[in-house]
Parts: sequence; structure tokens; C-alpha cells
Amino acid sequence: MDFTLSEEQLMIQQAARDFAQNELLPGVIERDEAQRFPTEEVKKMGELGFMGMMVSPKYGGSGLDTLSYAIAVEELSKIDASASVIVSVNNSLVCWGLETFGSEAQKEKYLPRLTSGEIIGAFCLSEPEAGSDATSQKTTAIDKGDHYLLNGTKNWITNGNSAEVYLVIAQTNVEKGHKGINALIVDKGTPGFEIGPKENKLGIRGSDTHSIMFNDVIVPKENRIGEDGFGFKFAMKTLAGGRIGIAAQALGIAAGAYEMAKKYSKERKAFGTEIMNHQAIAFKLADMHTQIEAARHMVYKAAWDKDNDKDYDLSGAMAKLYASQVAMDTTIEAVQVHGGNGFVKDYHVERLMRDAKITQIYEGTSEIQKIVISRSILRD
Ligand code: CAA
Ligand code: FAD
Repeated sequence: MDFTLSEEQLMIQQAARDFAQNELLPGVIERDEAQRFPTEEVKKMGELGFMGMMVSPKYGGSGLDTLSYAIAVEELSKIDASASVIVSVNNSLVCWGLETFGSEAQKEKYLPRLTSGEIIGAFCLSEPEAGSDATSQKTTAIDKGDHYLLNGTKNWITNGNSAEVYLVIAQTNVEKGHKGINALIVDKGTPGFEIGPKENKLGIRGSDTHSIMFNDVIVPKENRIGEDGFGFKFAMKTLAGGRIGIAAQALGIAAGAYEMAKKYSKERKAFGTEIMNHQAIAFKLADMHTQIEAARHMVYKAAWDKDNDKDYDLSGAMAKLYASQVAMDTTIEAVQVHGGNGFVKDYHVERLMRDAKITQIYEGTSEIQKIVISRSILRD
């Protein structure tokens, strides 16, 4: 087994680290407070190749492997988990889904703009009554011959207002259950397409989350991804890879909080010595470091599985389940290590603690990951 990162992977890691330090860090507290989307920063990430990392250069992408992508998401998340979820959705759910399952015409039309950062995408599966229970789609896409008539509401859509292109999952044939679901590409501004108010969130406040309403939206047949009835499989297969991105995000949040706690423990003095010399603090850091290292192995292994055509449903779900728990545990302890300073915004760790929570909820809650994991291990 070789655990060494390649020259190229180390370069991506350094580039993402530098970008996070130089471009994301300066405004991160203000964006969090104001719930302001990092518009300029996303454009720059597009220029640097972070918005279409795994897409072939043929469509303007960086042509990198999943592991490089996970490493980049980890680095960005150490500083700004709002920026990293924008990157994660655009890369894993939108670009990967389109490149893997879209038609040549769809790829040519959308991927170059999505990879360059000119536009970003959104992935619309969740609904008011279909979150974890994703097959219970109420949004309908009625087959009208040369087009679908789309009606319904999607909830919690990341990049909800900032996106230009939306991959929408909807039910065409109720009698066929999940086999009657389709995935459609919908352009913002199509008549009948409406964006709800921005959600006021606990964490990842720089990312914009909105409901999206469809009222008799006409979607041409050529905007369907894959064969008729492929929509639910499309969502599941795409999410399997997406979960590696969110696992990397959770890992980065944990690692960012740990690095800040370690630094603070070497500076802050209490009872005549740096607090790192109190074993209670040193042991917290030992636990954090151990858990983060374990999470990193799981995330990188899931990415490696995907890059090497192995099954990654199980390893991706386990990585997300574990890394998101580590993100929660580590950020709570990082606040504790900072004492009172941990409770104020200037020290960043309270934001990371708030951001960590979402990694246990989106792209399948921790309970859903356990369903995926248990079904997989019990099937064998
Ligand atoms: N790959 C391919 N097919 C898959 C699959 C996978 N990973 N997982 C399931 N399927 C297929 C099944 O094989 C089945 O098809 P067949 O009948 O042809 O075999 C079909 O999908 C239905 O599967 P199940 O019978 O297992 O369905 P279920 O109702 O028991 O639910 C579930 C399965 C795993 C719980 C699923 O509903 C699920 O993943 N729920 C969570 C939804 C989710 O993750 N939402 C995230 C929204 S996006 C987001 O959150 C983005 C963001 O925040 C940034
Ligand atoms: P529910 O499904 O109602 O679950 C409530 C609780 O019950 C959870 O604890 C859950 O784990 C538990 N539960 C449910 N079913 C079971 C079961 N069978 N066994 C055990 N426990 C169960 N969705 C998108 O499609 N696109 C996006 O871009 C997107 N971005 C998001 C961004 C944010 C900030 C948030 C908060 C959500 C986002 N989501 C997005 C939606 C997200 O994926 C869902 O919130 C998530 O899948 C859970 O669905 P739910 O909120 O309906 O909770």
C-alpha cells in the first residue's frame, strides 16, 4: 500500500490551501454574518479549475481524479465550509452527473460554463415531503410528447438563487414508483420557474439555500438525462459520489478546528504555563488528531475506490458517517480549548462548530448512511 500523495495531488493541496488562506479567510466572518454568497471567490475558483475538477479537459474541466478533488474540498473547508459546499455541489452532483450520464449535446451546452465558474449548478431532489424518503417524489414531470410539464416544489436547494442550471428530479409515472422518475435539466428563468426566500441558517451561511417552485414549466425532452425512468438511479449514483465530497468537507472542518485549537494551546497561558501543558488539553488534541487521521483514511479510501472503479457506495457512506461525527466532536472540543474566546466570532471555531452540523444532515442524514451501510454489509 502506498499512502504517498502524487506530485500533482500535493500541488492541488497547496493551491487550495493558498486560495483558502488568501482569498476565503479575509471575508469569511463577514459573509457568515451577512449570509452573503461568495460571488467573486467562486469566479476565482472557476479560473483556478476548482469548479470542474473531475471533468475532462474536452469540456473545460481539470481532468483530475476524485482524490485530488477530495483533498481540495478538505483544504477549502478548513477555512470556509460555505465555499466548499458550493464547490462540492457543482463538482460532484452537477458536473459529474452531467458528464457521466448526460448526452453529448447536454455536455457541450452546459459543462464548459459550469467548469469555468461562469455559471454554477444546483441539484434538486429534496421536497417538503421527500427528504430522506427520496422515492416519495411529489414534483411531477408529465410527458406531453415533445416536452415535460413540470409542477411542484423542491426544498433546501444549495446554490438555489445563484445557480443558472438546475438538475431536477421529478415523477413522470406514479404507477412505476421510483422507476417512473426522471432527471431534467431546467434553466433558470424558464417561465413558471420561481425561487423562494433564502433560508436563515445555523451554519454554512455563505451558501444560499432556497426552495424552488415549478408552475407549468415546459422542459424540452432533450433536457432529460438518460433514458425514461432513469431519474432515481441518476440521483442515487450521483449522490454516492457526492457523499465523498461532503465527507471531505467534514474532514476539512474538523482539521481546520483542530489546527486552530493546537495553535491556541501553544499560545494561551493558564496557571503559569501554556495550556497545552495541561494533560486535559493535550489529551483532547490527541483524540482530535487520531480521529481526524482515521477520517482522512476513510475519505481518501472512498475517493480511491471511485478512482479505481471499485464499489464506493459503502466506503463513501462510511466516510461521510464517520467524518461528519468527527467534525461535530472536534469542533465542540476546539471551542472548549479556546475557552471564552471560542465563543466569539473572531476565533473562527464557533463558526466551524455551526458549519459541522450540516454534514450530518445533507446528502443523506447519518441515519440514512447507516441504512446504506447496513444494507450493503448484510447483502453480502
Ligand atoms: N446506486 C444505484 N442505484 C441505487 C443506489 C445506488 N447507490 N441506491 C439505491 N439505488 C436503487 C435501488 O437499487 C433501487 O432500484 P431497483 O428497485 O431497480 O433495485 C432504487 O434505487 C430504490 O432503492 P431502495 O429500494 O433502496 O429505496 P428506499 O426507498 O429504501 O431508499 C435510500 C433508499 C438510500 C434511503 C434513498 O432514498 C436515499 O438515499 N435517501 C436520502 C436522500 C438524500 O441523500 N438526499 C440528498 C439530497 S442532495 C443534497 O442534500 C445536496 C446538499 O445538501 C449539498
Ligand atoms: P427527514 O427525512 O424528515 O428526517 C428527519 C429525521 O428522521 C432525520 O433525523 C432522519 O435521519 C430521520 N429519519 C428519516 N427516515 C428515517 C429512517 N428510515 N430511519 C431512521 N431515521 C430516519 N437537498 C437537495 O436535494 N439539494 C440540495 O442542494 C440540498 N441542500 C441542502 C442544504 C441545506 C443547508 C440543508 C439543511 C438541506 C439540503 N438538502 C438538499 C436537503 C437534505 O438533503 C435533507 O434535509 C436531508 O436529506 C434530510 O431530509 P429531511 O430534511 O426531509 O429530513
